[in-house]
Amino acid sequence: MNVSMDTLVTLCKTRGFVFPGSDIYGGLANSWDYGPLGVELKNNIKQAWWKKFVTSRLDMVGIDAALLMNPKVWEASGHLATFTDPLVECKTCHERYRADQIDLTAACAKCGNKGTFTEPAAFNMMMKTWLGPKEDATATAYFRPETAQAMFVDFAQVLTATRKRVPFGIAQAGKAFRNEITPGNFIFRQREFDLMEFEYFIHPNDWEKSFEYWLAQMHEWIKECGIDASRVHELEVSAEDRAHYSKRTVDLEFDYPFGKKELYGLAYRTDFDLKNHAEHSGAKLEYTDPITNEKYLPHVIEPAMGLDRTFLAVLLSAYEEQDVDGEKRVVLHLPKHLAPTKVAVLPLSKKEELSSVAQPLAEKLAKLFRTEYDETQSIGKRYRRQDEIGTPFCVTVDFETLTDNAVTVRERDSMKQERVPIAELEAYLRKNLE
Ligand code: GAP
Repeated sequence: MNVSMDTLVTLCKTRGFVFPGSDIYGGLANSWDYGPLGVELKNNIKQAWWKKFVTSRLDMVGIDAALLMNPKVWEASGHLATFTDPLVECKTCHERYRADQIDLTAACAKCGNKGTFTEPAAFNMMMKTWLGPKEDATATAYFRPETAQAMFVDFAQVLTATRKRVPFGIAQAGKAFRNEITPGNFIFRQREFDLMEFEYFIHPNDWEKSFEYWLAQMHEWIKECGIDASRVHELEVSAEDRAHYSKRTVDLEFDYPFGKKELYGLAYRTDFDLKNHAEHSGAKLEYTDPITNEKYLPHVIEPAMGLDRTFLAVLLSAYEEQDVDGEKRVVLHLPKHLAPTKVAVLPLSKKEELSSVAQPLAEKLAKLFRTEYDETQSIGKRYRRQDEIGTPFCVTVDFETLTDNAVTVRERDSMKQERVPIAELEAYLRKNLE
């Protein structure tokens, strides 16, 4: 179902997925903190991505590079010159907008005056800082706007260290920073966000085949995340809208409640980056084919996937409101491997005879699966709470448990209940959580 952003943002805040950042100080516009459940969901997505695209493949390796790189990197990559968005300012109230996101003939959304916008000017989105005690040009550094550059800068070292042969890829997942003119739409557009991307190095002749292959892999990943495929659309990005390094880009867009917008991007970066780094640094970044002895600069296919946007699309796709016996049930149908909490142990009452069984059981399960223990409120309310955060299994300890040494296991989506002996519970959960 199509849940509204207001409903989703409220759920995220009340259940501890995502909080407004710096809240007790009145917040910091468009900054968000991932809460106790959010960090688990985010980590699970990141781990699933790393497993699918890195550790389960023979042709992929990962790195974890510094966020701050030599500023010469950003000169060579073209980011200092061209990583810009068009900026306009209202001449009356001085509010600033991204020129490509508003109607320049309409009135200013803030002051209501018409025809007052300045001519669009290129605004560089690199986030600047200083290294060390001097705040001058010699100490200027930039927080990376993409994780990609370290994969190019470290290309030769990775090649020597791993003895990989083309085709192969280098992957990285981590923070990126962009001084966005208009962040917004919850975690969709932030100034600080998480990227998961890899550079897949190929022979130039193979780029079309490789592009199609990775596009299909991205669709497969989307499906594995439980993202509603009917809300995902391919957009062939026109030459004028492509990033400065790309010869072909396909964006995968998602139908968010605020419109159809980018989820992921797939770009053919040619040898743009390796060539520029070789020229600017003087390093030899050519690859020699061990069989043909051909020397060439590998070309690159780059699947880039935002972690925060994945998180958002996963939640939007998982959310459902159902009518169960005249009562509203909110349920997150999260894929089990992504669910932040896998099991909730719920003693039927707070009585000591039940908690003395349930508490140690929860402690034991917590060593195997992310487990919650909850003994307050009615069992119905506790089930609803677990449904709302997408917990696949609730384990209820009741008075019968004291005699039959079994528990009731309730499955989230079907709400079916099954009696399972405690001795078999671990195996049961392992099997069903796979
Ligand atoms: N290295 C290529 C690159 O960075 P991009 O299309 O600029 O390409 C990649 O960004 C992905 O990062 C996007 O598809 C999106 O998922 C995510 N992303 C970009 N800007 C973002 C922002 N301001 N906030 C959250 N996610 C963002």
